[in-house]
Amino acid sequence: MSSKGRVEVLVGAQWGDEGKGKVVDTIGPRVDVFVRYQGGANAGHTVIVDGEKIIFKLLPSGMLYPGKLCVIGNGVVFDPEQFLKEVGELHSRGLDRARLVVSPHAHVVMPYHKVLDKAQEEFRGKGHMIGTTGRGIGPCYVDKYARSGLRVEDILDDERLRVRLSYALEEKNTIIKKLYGGTPMPLSEIYEPARAWGKAIAPYVEDASALLCESYKNGKRIVLEGAQGTLLDVDYGTYPYVTSSSTTAAGGFIGTGLPISALDRVIAVVKAYTTRVGEGPMPTEDKGDLGERLRDRGGEFGAVTGRARRCGWLDMVALKYSMRLNGVSVIALTKLDVLSGEDEIKVCTSYDLEGVKTDRFNGDSETLAKCRPVFESMPGWKENISDCSAFDALPEAARNYVAYIEKHTGVPVGLIGVGPDRHQTIDRGF
Ligand code: IMP
Repeated sequence: MSSKGRVEVLVGAQWGDEGKGKVVDTIGPRVDVFVRYQGGANAGHTVIVDGEKIIFKLLPSGMLYPGKLCVIGNGVVFDPEQFLKEVGELHSRGLDRARLVVSPHAHVVMPYHKVLDKAQEEFRGKGHMIGTTGRGIGPCYVDKYARSGLRVEDILDDERLRVRLSYALEEKNTIIKKLYGGTPMPLSEIYEPARAWGKAIAPYVEDASALLCESYKNGKRIVLEGAQGTLLDVDYGTYPYVTSSSTTAAGGFIGTGLPISALDRVIAVVKAYTTRVGEGPMPTEDKGDLGERLRDRGGEFGAVTGRARRCGWLDMVALKYSMRLNGVSVIALTKLDVLSGEDEIKVCTSYDLEGVKTDRFNGDSETLAKCRPVFESMPGWKENISDCSAFDALPEAARNYVAYIEKHTGVPVGLIGVGPDRHQTIDRGF
């Protein structure tokens, strides 16, 4: 008799870049199956092992663990070129230790999606542009829902690829030419590479949903690894300044084919302060010295695009919204060490909305842009905490900050990151 496994969804609680890759990597030895369920190569999950930095844009963060199963689910927009690049890099460094499976139902990011992403951003211009990563994510999801996309299974067979691509390209070229005034893309320029991608990825393609359900039935521990963050969710985030997928915990089930009833717990990764990259409102953004200090100490530059991230104090209003939407069971708090050295630490506990105090976050960008943060202040700490391996070893002010987050979110903090390396983590029974 097999006993049922454990399915945990791990989400970013803010605007992405919370350090999800490191958290997944830290709990890696206890996990059997790692799954990406949404987003694509717009993510940048950084894992640092023995001082060596590895950035996964598309592959699940568990790839470094021997014998584990890593799955790219149907909810991901799959960039074959990036996939083969990452697989190739791991292979050449002898780090391709996990078994890798790709869902046949994942949609393929085609070269024209990247062209459209950039053309659309230019067309929007100042005041309307989203500040996308330019990876073709939005246009690929548009095609998925417009039912004119190509899925992984469509590029495995030459003839099927040719027929579907010919139609899709005709449509896209019309848009590129007539709407954006761009140059149409010849079929051969896309067909030949796509055919080669199909051949190269074929060994990885397998019914991922069935495999995951079987793993669950066989008692495996499965982590669904969210990309981006809750406030970038297409429904609940700061629309239109969002990504094009469901980044919240619920997306984990649409994007994998696992039943919702399998959910065991939701892990929210929370950075000890707030960052955002791209356009859109961010009430606690600090454009002065503090923002710069956090950016410098936290290395807050995009893993995918290299863009400087906007930085500021922790936004508790936004965080509570995120806890509610995701039904969070436990928090993994990251980058606490970055706050070391500050005389005082502030937390935004409510907003001033045109003279009215509110502690409600509703995802409406226009309203959020008018919100001014109302801060509470608490003492900071000067000590370097990056070698602390137990909660009690932290300075009192740092412990108080963690307790403050627990009190205001109502969620326990089970894991605390005090440095970039896998081992610089305080485990409080996570
Ligand atoms: P897209 O996902 O490339 O369409 O970009 C939409 C928005 O999401 C932009 O503001 C991006 O900066 C942001 N974004 C996308 N992926 C990430 C990520 O992994 N971390 C942080 N922000 C992201």
